[in-house]
Parts: sequence; C-alpha cells; structure tokens
Amino acid sequence: LSRIHRLVLVACGTSWHAAIAGEYLIENFAGVPVEVECASEMRYRNRPLEKDTLVVSISQSGETADTLAAIRGARDLGIRTLAIVNVVGSTIARESDADIYMRAGPEIGVASTKAFEMQVLLLTLLGMALGRLRGTLPTAQGRKLVNELKTIPRKIQQILDGDGHILHIAKKYYRCTDFLYMGRQINFPIALEGALKLKELSYIHAEGYPSAEMKHGPIALIAPDFPSVFVVPRDPVFDKNVSNMEEIKARKGPIIAVATAGDKEVARTADDVIYIPRTSDWLYPLLTVVPLQLLAYHIAVLRGCDV
Ligand code: F6R
Repeated sequence: LSRIHRLVLVACGTSWHAAIAGEYLIENFAGVPVEVECASEMRYRNRPLEKDTLVVSISQSGETADTLAAIRGARDLGIRTLAIVNVVGSTIARESDADIYMRAGPEIGVASTKAFEMQVLLLTLLGMALGRLRGTLPTAQGRKLVNELKTIPRKIQQILDGDGHILHIAKKYYRCTDFLYMGRQINFPIALEGALKLKELSYIHAEGYPSAEMKHGPIALIAPDFPSVFVVPRDPVFDKNVSNMEEIKARKGPIIAVATAGDKEVARTADDVIYIPRTSDWLYPLLTVVPLQLLAYHIAVLRGCDV
C-alpha cells in the first residue's frame, strides 16, 4: 500500500455510493488521489491505468457481474486489486489479490443497509491506514478518530431508539410522489443513498443531488407537494447547506432535515427535523444514513410494499 499513488474505487448501486464517500475519506486522510468508477461504465471503457494504481472493488454479494468484469479488466493490465466484500469466498473475493471482509452478516432483503454501513466504515479505516503509512494522519488525530469510532454503535442505537419520530414523519409524507435528497461533501453520497433506498423500497421517484447543484435545474420542480430531504449535520459546510434549504423554502417546498442534536438553526427552516448525535465531521455518514434507511422503510410499509 505504501507504493500506491492512486486508487480507483469501483462498484455498483449502494456500494458505488459507499465508494463516493470513500473518495472523500481516503483523499482527506491519506492525501492520495482517488477516483470512483461505476463498474458498468468502467468495464466497457478504454481506461488507462498506471502500474502504481490500486483498484478497490466494493460489493456486498461479491458476485455482481459488472464489478467482477471491471476488476478482471484491471487484472489483465497487471494492476493490483483489493476487494471489500461481505460474502466470504465469493467470486470477487477469490479473484482479487487481497480482501477485506465486511462481516455484516447476510443481507436478508433486497436493500443493502448494514452492508453500506460496513462499507463506509471499512473505507474510513482504509483511509486512516493509508494516512498512517504515508504520514499524512498524525498519530494523535488517528487515536481520536478510533476513540470516536468506538462510540458509533451507541450513537446508532440512539437513532434507532428515536424511530417513532421517523415513523411520524413518514406518515406525513408517504403519499408524495417525488422526493429530492441533498447533502454536501461526504454527506452528498448519503443523499444519493437515501434516494436509492426510497425508490427501491417504496417505488417513489427520488433523486439525490449535491445541495448546491439543485440550483442548476432540479429547483424548477420544487412545489408544496415535493419534499426535499437535507443531510445537514454541523460540519464545515453547514452554513452553505442552510442557504440551500432557504432556497427550497422560498419556493414553498417542504423540508425534512437530518441534523445534529440540539441544532435550533435547522429547525427554523425545516418543517421536520431528525436529530442524530454529534460526532467527528468525517464519521457523520455512519450516522446520517440510518434515519434515511428508516424513513424509506416506514414509507414503503405505509404504502403497502413488501420490504
Ligand atoms: C441497493 C442494492 C443494489 C446493490 C448493487 C450492488 O440496496 O442492493 O444497488 O448495492 O446491486 O450489489 P453488490 O454490493 O452486491 O455488488
């Protein structure tokens, strides 16, 4: 790993969203360039790859055909491959030079949920490990992050304990036919993932966008029956996110916000707020995705879908 000068993360669907979070995490901790490829695009593309590149595939099942084809293509060029997979002994795991197992347990339904959590966690740890190797992550900062990581299970439990409030919000919005999900930086892929969970569980049209990109087209759709879900924790882009929320409000669009506990400013603009415990800026995705998974679940059940 110390000889790697570039990483290409390749995956599909939910795993692809985890890869986008991984890009922000690894570049921040390790200062190494990371690119994310959608496996179904990469496999048919004539993509030059330098020898000091590591191709990292991310897959819950370890059997996704496009992801497998993309890593086979890389291997044919003599590029080293690392797989982050859940299913032990799966084809992607067997065909890669090295594996990191998620050990999330089996995904029972169609929707990848706990596997996504593990993918983001493992990409965080990979970024930190690379940062230590390359000397870009000081020991003290690394220790602080590890200590904070240890609090994440308890914080997720706190979110699960507040599920009744998420059900209440779901009851308010489950008849809507369109949703927009928005977030910035490392919470942008969480917006993508929230939208994907909603569409695949409840068959409602939903799109994820980087918060500011919404101005460049999607804002035309905003109306009183078109809710926006904002992922807006107290991080360095908080103020920017709030100004995007105000733009939605000016067009009378309802807002559901996922915000940090005690944040009164968000409550002034959003119609409904789901609070999550405070954590490090870089660990927020591990928390912000959970209420979005629960929201999608409840909306799907209320619409009579078999989750
Ligand atoms: C979403 C979902 C799909 C998968 C995608 C990749 O909940 O289940 O989008 O994430 O088909 O699958 P894996 O991760 O098995 O390669």
